[in-house]
Amino acid sequence: MNSPAKILAVDDEPEYLHALLKVLKLKKYCVDIESDPVNVLNLTEKKNYDIFLLDVNMPRLNGTALFEIIKNKFPDSPVIMISGESTIGTAVEMIKKGAYDFIEKPVEPERLYITIEKALEKSRIFEEMQNLRGKPSTIQKIIGESGVIKKLHTDIKQLAPTNAKVLITGESGTGKELVAAAIHYHSKRTHKPYITINCSAIPGELLESELFGHKKGSFTGATSDKKGKFLAADGGSIFLDEIGDMDPRLQAKMLRVLEENEIEVIGENKSVKVDVRIISATNKNLAEMVQEGTFREDLFHRLNTIQLRLPALRERKEDIITLAKYFLEKFSVEYKKDNLEFDIGAELLLCDYDYPGNVRELKNLIERVVIFADCRLITQIDVERAYGKNNFKAILDIAPDEHNLKNAKAEFEKIFIERALKKNEWNLQNTANELGLDRSNLFKKMKQFGLNK
Ligand SMILES: Nc1ncnc2c1ncn2[C@@H]1O[C@H](COP(=O)(O)OP(=O)(O)OP(=O)(O)O)[C@@H](O)[C@H]1O
Ligand SMILES: [Mg+2]
Repeated sequence: MNSPAKILAVDDEPEYLHALLKVLKLKKYCVDIESDPVNVLNLTEKKNYDIFLLDVNMPRLNGTALFEIIKNKFPDSPVIMISGESTIGTAVEMIKKGAYDFIEKPVEPERLYITIEKALEKSRIFEEMQNLRGKPSTIQKIIGESGVIKKLHTDIKQLAPTNAKVLITGESGTGKELVAAAIHYHSKRTHKPYITINCSAIPGELLESELFGHKKGSFTGATSDKKGKFLAADGGSIFLDEIGDMDPRLQAKMLRVLEENEIEVIGENKSVKVDVRIISATNKNLAEMVQEGTFREDLFHRLNTIQLRLPALRERKEDIITLAKYFLEKFSVEYKKDNLEFDIGAELLLCDYDYPGNVRELKNLIERVVIFADCRLITQIDVERAYGKNNFKAILDIAPDEHNLKNAKAEFEKIFIERALKKNEWNLQNTANELGLDRSNLFKKMKQFGLNK
């Protein structure tokens, strides 16, 4: 931690608090003091203290109760308990509950400093480990500098700590999964399970048992008890991906979960309360599906407390280069190719495309660019080559009105060969090598398509 640690000290005796303040300021900590523990309840997450020092015996709100509240709200900040009349019992109990340490009054400055520094060190290591383990997704991993992405970041920060249900919409590859995970990992549920389930990948009946679990023998094939995802996610969040594909019978059951916060395990005739935040996503137009009668209107409104619409990449072209550079660096590390860079031609070409597959398509493209890169500077030709390697849309762009497969293939072949010839300055052998043809075959095709310099 480079900036001074931020500490909040809470004690009902003002003289003691001021003495403590003096001692802490000597070490250049940034300290706030509070003599009424009840005021601490109004603290917002924004305050972000690195450490809390709490007196145990306080009249309006006991330090042990305050400790519980702080632990819930700021699970990553160490709490050091301080008390005049400590008993070993209280100390052990508090440490068991997660307090970092317990110090007796009168506090000896050196002992206090050492305890604070050790606690800071531990939480720094913890933070590093968390980063190393890599939270699956955080706001910082949602790349983009366009207004919509900046707004998305602030929206996520604001809505994440609430329990509001969020429906994420957007075309395929716009980052819905990334955003769903970011919401969970920026919420108070971050240390609790985050479970994702793809509603389109699992057929209706199986999905019900996946979500709610079943008792052994409740249907043919239920050979043992199964714990459902809702129970597994208790206290955390569940991400229902492709919710538009959920079958109508299950939609009715989901509605009940959303209304009552309880589930019924298949084969068990009782309901169980669950505390799960629901985040859902779809690339379908649910409002239209409601009109058509294929998605329940009541469920739609329940899921849709907050809707985040992720724009297609072509609607925010200013993000293309930022994203491309981000993926270039990411894959350079992965494929051990140092300091790759786009030249201006490559950047122009990257921007001159609509990306129907959105960020996923751009990401895959850059991965191919990196794999095939043979020098540091990536040019237009490298990007073209990567497009060519897997770009079916290019074929449609070339022959948009052609319905006859043979003609379309011929048209594509002609353009593809001509491009390779130009790239190789009409050197037949080099072109043939690149295309994987033998020289005489290439020559035949050039004649067939009327290709010459
Ligand atoms: N803004 C972004 N910044 C960085 N990576 C992104 C961004 N948006 C999407 N991605 C990456 O693009 C890929 C596709 O994203 P994701 O799987 O979240 O899309 P999706 O909207 O869920 O698509 P689908 O509807 O097809 O499931 C992922 O690898 C994701 O990490
Ligand atoms: Mg997805």
